[in-house]
Amino acid sequence: MDKRMSEEYEDKVKEYKNMGKSAFIIGYTGECGKELVKALSKNRIFNKVVLIGRRKVDITPDPGPEFEQKVVDYDKLDDYTEAFQGAQVGYCCLGTTKAKAGGKEGFVKVDRDYVLKTAEIAKSSGCQHFSIVTASTADKNSMFLYIKTKGEVEDALKKMSFDKLSIFKPGFLLCDRSERRLGERIGQAFMKPIILMFPTYSAASTAYVGGAMVIDTVTPGDEKLRTYSNEQIHGLIKQNGKQN
Ligand SMILES: NC(=O)c1ccc[n+]([C@@H]2O[C@H](COP(=O)([O-])OP(=O)(O)OC[C@H]3O[C@@H](n4cnc5c(N)ncnc54)[C@H](OP(=O)(O)O)[C@@H]3O)[C@@H](O)[C@H]2O)c1
Repeated sequence: MDKRMSEEYEDKVKEYKNMGKSAFIIGYTGECGKELVKALSKNRIFNKVVLIGRRKVDITPDPGPEFEQKVVDYDKLDDYTEAFQGAQVGYCCLGTTKAKAGGKEGFVKVDRDYVLKTAEIAKSSGCQHFSIVTASTADKNSMFLYIKTKGEVEDALKKMSFDKLSIFKPGFLLCDRSERRLGERIGQAFMKPIILMFPTYSAASTAYVGGAMVIDTVTPGDEKLRTYSNEQIHGLIKQNGKQN
């Protein structure tokens, strides 16, 4: 990134910061979520960031005084609307797997129902910009549960009329995952030659995804919907620099 581009990015950050907004994140303990927290901590664009999860975690280094963790019960989100109040921006990095969630119903509950309930509460609490990580393959008409669920979420969010909706659609996520996932490791082994041949086409690091979410946030524009493919996520980082 050249000096001019970096100065342009700094100007966008300054301008955004001056708006004095607040945000919340769901899924902040996951791999993309952790990188988003790092990028927000580095960029310091919000007055307040509420980290919403089912448990509190140690975050090191300390992201800063504007970050606050709040524990909610996702099955009773209506009882926790206070956690979402006052946030003009909402980030969602939530997600699970069928194996972790104990089957199809558990997966859909987390990846679709929790996400859409959060979006609904956020919208009615004044959230203007909702920003989410889905997947490159998302398609509501697919016969495959994961792809279909991601597609249904995208479709429902588009109908919710946020002032701005940003959808990040990475291919494979690259990271040192703290938890072991056999299926993902097998998938990555198969994908390895393609990832090596076309590094921006099929995979993105979680650091790039988290950083790209912040770059998108500070980038002005009137578009109601911004959708980022895996390649466009790489493009945002190339143009604006790594944020975490
Ligand atoms: N893996 C891939 O290659 C890939 C590719 C494209 C897109 N994606 C999608 O990208 C998104 C982010 O992925 P990621 O790998 O960063 O996610 P991750 O590391 O698995 O983190 C998932 C987050 O969701 C939370 N969560 C999971 N189950 C929950 C439950 N039952 N109740 C409350 N919270 C729950 C986790 O909280 P705890 O820490 O408390 O568990 C964590 O904060 C997901 O939607 C994923 O499907 C993944």
